[in-house]
Amino acid sequence: MSKPIIAVLTGAGISAESGINTFRGADGLWEGHSVQDVASPDGWRRDQELVLDFYNQRRKQLLEVEPNAAHKDLVKLESKFDTHIITQNVDDLHERGGSNNIVHLHGELLKVRSIENPSLVYEWKKDLITGDVCEKGHQLRPHIVWFGEAVPLLETAAEIVSQANAIIIIGTSMQVYPAAGLVGYALPGAAIYYVDPYPSINWELSNRPNLKVVEEKASTGVIKVVEELMEKY
Ligand code: APR
Repeated sequence: MSKPIIAVLTGAGISAESGINTFRGADGLWEGHSVQDVASPDGWRRDQELVLDFYNQRRKQLLEVEPNAAHKDLVKLESKFDTHIITQNVDDLHERGGSNNIVHLHGELLKVRSIENPSLVYEWKKDLITGDVCEKGHQLRPHIVWFGEAVPLLETAAEIVSQANAIIIIGTSMQVYPAAGLVGYALPGAAIYYVDPYPSINWELSNRPNLKVVEEKASTGVIKVVEELMEKY
């Protein structure tokens, strides 16, 4: 018999305890910048150097941090479930934590791509500067989905969610669409868990009778949900 399917939807909160700041801090800024300045095509056109420098700093920081207990606990699910991580995070902490099937909805910090040929994508760990070009000679940009851009992996993610027996949502404010709307694709009978110390129940979640909210940090909440699911199935 095939294994039951679990979709795990993660946001910035799962990486908070690794030392990466969430987006919507009390000041409404992302590491001191407005999101429009550093994460939009307009911001890139206005000030390419600022955007490159911003992601260079994020990349450096990422290489200094480690996955935490929550990233690692999710791997345990793989022994019993067909487990899929759908993350809004651009870090690689799920990969380094040991998970295998990971969809990066909003791109990846350790990749860059050509501004002219989006299919020319390269692994990238060093600083990215003006003058770094693809094999066809075009400037490279961060491989990140900025505000106002299409989310190429959305359909893949929706397909996974629509087949899942259980869904775990971890550390996301459920504010940024289309990612926040993915739970709307869930089967009516799917069990839904939401681990977040400050959960925000959006419209899609409020319509779900099978929702269980675990109002805790990822490092303590995720293991409880993983254990419950391992016992239940
Ligand atoms: N454990 C679990 N959740 C936590 C923790 C923690 N230790 N600390 C904070 N959180 C929760 C917050 O309560 C909040 O609900 O993480 C969530 C972070 O929300 P956001 O900062 O809005 O991050 P996210 O939902 O991932 O943002 C979505 O917005 O700017 C864009 O593209 C960017 O992918 C990002 C998207």
